[in-house]
Amino acid sequence: GPALAREVANATSIGELRHQAEGCTRCDLYRNATQIVFGEGPVKAEIVLVGEQPGDQEDVSGRPFVGPAGRLLDRCLEEAGLDRQRCYVTNAVKHFKFTQRGKRRLHAKPNAGEIKRCAWWLGAEINILQPKLVVTLGASALYALLGPKVKLTPERGHILYPANRPPVLVTIHPSYLLRIRDEADQRRQRRDFVSDLHKAAAYR
Ligand code: URA
Repeated sequence: GPALAREVANATSIGELRHQAEGCTRCDLYRNATQIVFGEGPVKAEIVLVGEQPGDQEDVSGRPFVGPAGRLLDRCLEEAGLDRQRCYVTNAVKHFKFTQRGKRRLHAKPNAGEIKRCAWWLGAEINILQPKLVVTLGASALYALLGPKVKLTPERGHILYPANRPPVLVTIHPSYLLRIRDEADQRRQRRDFVSDLHKAAAYR
């Protein structure tokens, strides 16, 4: 069905959930990744930010959003008046998926099956945290929570209200901004991203 995070892990705390996830073999991505990158942040967080999957630096450090996309996210959150330290930050997929190019490990997009398998953890994180608002960064996070029928472009900047689950604010992924070559276009997209994050800051 469309609600991908309906069947989820059963745990009473984030610590217990993380411990379960450390042994995850629900898909094949654990085979090549260094370690699981679980969500982090206060358990009292009112806002949960969901990215796609860890990148190279996240895989090495074991922490979400510490690389280039994370630094850009931090700056945009601050501009929007959101304190990252008060948010819980996680990913739809918790192992790094990559293709090796010489010494470089290039990000590879997780597929639908990997995202569904990993929603077992994401759904449980959200169940435990019960945030006021979930912010999906990019299409993979949106897919993980709302399934294939909800598309990023038409919903971008909107707050959606799934039954029996926290509201979802839909926005882009910060690494999308890093890929825009045209400077004016990048400035525009960045401004719109900060404005989406500002909606999260203002959400009551
Ligand atoms: N991109 C993501 O989606 N998540 C991270 O943790 C880092 C980069």
